[in-house]
Formats: sequence, structure tokens, C-alpha cells
Amino acid sequence: MAAHTTHSSQTPQATTNDAGHASASTGGGGGGGGGGKAHHDKAKQDVRVFEKHWAGGYYEGDPMDPMASSTYGVLGYMSVLHATYLRCIRPYVTKNSTVLEIGPGRGAWSRTMTHAKELWCLDVMSAEHNGFWEYVGKQHDRQRGGSTHYVQVSDFSLSSVPDGHFDFFFSFGVFCHIPFAGLTEYMTNLRRKLKPGAEAFLMVADYDQYNRAWDSLDQLGAQRPVLEMAKKSRPKWRRFMPELWWKGERERQNRTPRKDPKNDGDPAHGVWYHAGKGRTCELLRSLGYTVMDEDVGVLPRDPVIWFRG
Ligand SMILES: C[S@@+](CC[C@H](N)C(=O)[O-])C[C@H]1O[C@@H](n2cnc3c(N)ncnc32)[C@H](O)[C@@H]1O
Repeated sequence: MAAHTTHSSQTPQATTNDAGHASASTGGGGGGGGGGKAHHDKAKQDVRVFEKHWAGGYYEGDPMDPMASSTYGVLGYMSVLHATYLRCIRPYVTKNSTVLEIGPGRGAWSRTMTHAKELWCLDVMSAEHNGFWEYVGKQHDRQRGGSTHYVQVSDFSLSSVPDGHFDFFFSFGVFCHIPFAGLTEYMTNLRRKLKPGAEAFLMVADYDQYNRAWDSLDQLGAQRPVLEMAKKSRPKWRRFMPELWWKGERERQNRTPRKDPKNDGDPAHGVWYHAGKGRTCELLRSLGYTVMDEDVGVLPRDPVIWFRG
């Protein structure tokens, strides 16, 4: 929403900022924190500002639409990684947590959890191969007095970590590269590693959700951030940018192969295995976990399952 200002000796100066929030000031002695009559007069003036700017009822946008436009423009969009961190890690991992992460890679997520009492990271690759300590920080290495353990594993047994020990489990971008039989073995063994009531977040691949996400690019409104950006760019760009960008995105959409669960794990799929949201939740329930949410909804393309030990 464009910012605008009204001026009059009788009326307050009213502005509507980029986020669409109206504000008013008297420009004189009446505003700001005074009690009694001045305070009430100011409130009435504010209401007149609202009436003028919010005719029809102010509407910011649809909170249920993951790509909803809003008056925040390009500032209204956030990385799915940050959303995942906010939803799945930040509320749960404290300095008292004992955390297990499977498949940390270089440690993108691990680095957000080094403040935990203990963080155990298990990967089939060595820490050297992953450049783990360089990224996460050598000072966090348990062998140097920190609280982070890195363990290179060669099976799904979890035999290298203590039983009944963890109150938080997290794995992102890993089980989509492990066949369902391996996921089953890992989840079976995880059960006795978690404390009762432990919180767990598991991202898996679901070909149907993946296909739906690509097929509904329009509804997801993936073009909106770019259109918003284009509106603010130089006039000569403004004309072509959205069109060019959207053309490229359409081509990408058409080039992107849809995935067939029957060809699960096909190297053409990038060794990306269809666990399936429903099938994985069914497995988790059968193992005695409580599924809290089949998909917390932070990634339009892939489910992140929230369950409890
Ligand atoms: C695509 S990377 C994701 C890394 C990290 N989680 C991230 O999101 O940035 C997958 C990681 O899982 C590890 N991995 C694959 N199979 C594994 C297994 N069976 N057990 C533990 N780690 C495994 C790989 O070595 C790799 O580091």
C-alpha cells in the first residue's frame, strides 16, 4: 500500500506505512501518552483516521495461504528454512535439551542447536568430508570441551548413542535419500533412544505432494514476490521482468519431471525415495509414537512430520 499524508491545521497528520498500519499524530501538544481529555481526543482523532483509510474493513491478506500477498510486499516472504527453524527447533531446543540429529551434512541445522546440553549428530560421511567442525565451530566439539558429538555411522542401528537419552529429534533432507526399509529400521531403533514425550521432527519425501506443488505453481503464487519486486524496480525493467521471470519459471515447471512412486529411488530421481506422509505416519503409530501433526506445513513441497516419543 502506498504511503500518503494528509495535512490540515484541524486534522491530524495521518500516514499509512508500508505495512498498511495507519498512524496519526496531532503535530502539537495533544499526542503521546497524556492522560485524561487529551488522551481521549487523540483516540477519537485516530478513529477518524481509521475511518478514512480502512473503509470496508481493513484486510491484510489470507493467513491460510502460504504465499499470500500482503502490504509487506517482498518483506512478506520468508525462507522455508527459517520457517522450519522457527516452527520446529526454536521453541523446543533449550540449554537443557539433549538432541539427536540424523544426517547433519555440513551442519546447517546443527549450528542452530549447539546451545543444547548435548547435541549428537550422526552421519554416514565423516566430519572431515562434511566440513562439519569448520562450519559449526570447533569449540563445540565434545573432544575440545564442547557439547556436540559427531558420529560417523554405517548402519541404521543407532547403537552408538545412549538409550532413553534424548528429548528432541530432528532430521531434514536425509530420509528422502534413504529407502523406506532403512527409515523403518531407524525409526524402530529411535524409539528406545528417546525419552517418553520427546519431541521429534522428520522431513520425508512424498511424491504426491511434490507433484501437487509443481502442478499448482499458480495457486502457490510463487510469482508474487517477483511481481512485487518488479513494481519497485526501474520503469524499463518493470515492463519485462515479471514476464521474463514467469516464462522461465513455467519452463522450469514443465521441465521438472513428475515423480512416480513406482520408480521410487530411481537414480533419475536423484536417489530421492518416496516415503509418503501417510505411510510414514502409519509406521510411526505402529511403533508406538504419537503423531502430533502429519505435516507442520512449513514446506509446500515436502512434509515435515511432528511426532512424540
Ligand atoms: C542432503 S544432505 C542434508 C544435510 C542437512 N541435513 C541439511 O539439511 O543441510 C543428506 C545428509 O544425510 C546423510 N545421510 C545419508 N544417509 C544417511 C544415513 N543412513 N544415516 C545418517 N546420515 C545419512 C548424508 O551423508 C548427508 O550428509
